[in-house]
Amino acid sequence: MSFTFRNFPTARDDLRADVLAGLAASPKSIPPKYFYDETGSRLFEAICAQPEYVLNRTEQALMTARLTDIAAAIGPVDCIVEPGAGDCAKVRRLLDALHPAHLVVLDIAGAALAMAAETLSNDYPTLGVTALGMDFIHDLETATPWLPAGRRLIYYPGSSIGNFPPDAAIALLARFRQLAGEDGGLLIGFDLKKDPLRLHAAYNDTAGITAAFNLNLLARLNRELDADFNQAHFRHYAFYNPVEGRIEMHLVSLAEQDVSVAGEPVHFTLGETLHTEHSYKFRCDEFSALAQTAGWQPTSEWEHDGFAVQLYR
Ligand code: TRP
Repeated sequence: MSFTFRNFPTARDDLRADVLAGLAASPKSIPPKYFYDETGSRLFEAICAQPEYVLNRTEQALMTARLTDIAAAIGPVDCIVEPGAGDCAKVRRLLDALHPAHLVVLDIAGAALAMAAETLSNDYPTLGVTALGMDFIHDLETATPWLPAGRRLIYYPGSSIGNFPPDAAIALLARFRQLAGEDGGLLIGFDLKKDPLRLHAAYNDTAGITAAFNLNLLARLNRELDADFNQAHFRHYAFYNPVEGRIEMHLVSLAEQDVSVAGEPVHFTLGETLHTEHSYKFRCDEFSALAQTAGWQPTSEWEHDGFAVQLYR
């Protein structure tokens, strides 16, 4: 039917300010949204294909096995909205089951999103597809004028919600409510707490793709902020912290070193960490409490092999 793409790219000034603020903090950190440059988006898709990284495969197996049930629980929808849609692969299953008139996909990696959404649009000729390249965490309201009227379903798969600390997750879920509008729904997938060794393995694949993804952040800063990080002087280090219930992903400095970032000197002591991402794990009841704090009413839930999908209205 129609394909629309608009890009609202992150300003270089924002990248500079965010990165310098993160590097000035203690512990040092960088917002994970900056992982997703072109190489980062490609590496992320490669992570999902690693034998140890079972999250996406488990979720999609669940979605396939229970699709009829899930579609019946959702009921009729006019529009599906998927924040962080990436390669737009996951939503196809829902499109086939729900037949909405519109799909709105959002992602910070605008160029990759545009290509994926246009391919999808060709495969679904009667669907109205709108792709918005934007930072939906920072600026979700930009999407509001692009949303067609009618009943909307927000689809947030892949345990992306786990990449936010609980307070920020609640704030994002509350903003999803604004996007969903009256009578809207939320279908969300998240990884469950389980054997810490299984969790550990998922973020430490033997092929080193997750390590390359993590280190690519430094390459991006070198390119876009005239930094001079040496990737060989940092170690990808990811582990499960059972006290906090999260995988923590770090880049640990292997030496005392000085780096220049956007003209500013940054000092790392031996063993100092640059924290890059958390991936929170939940029990079903824990997550449900979080979503309810954000104003969502639980409707149904499905679970398979350590992964859960919940439906809210
Ligand atoms: N949200 C998923 C997770 O936390 C996917 C993901 C995001 C991820 N960033 C990642 C996976 C970094 C591996 C490494 O698992």
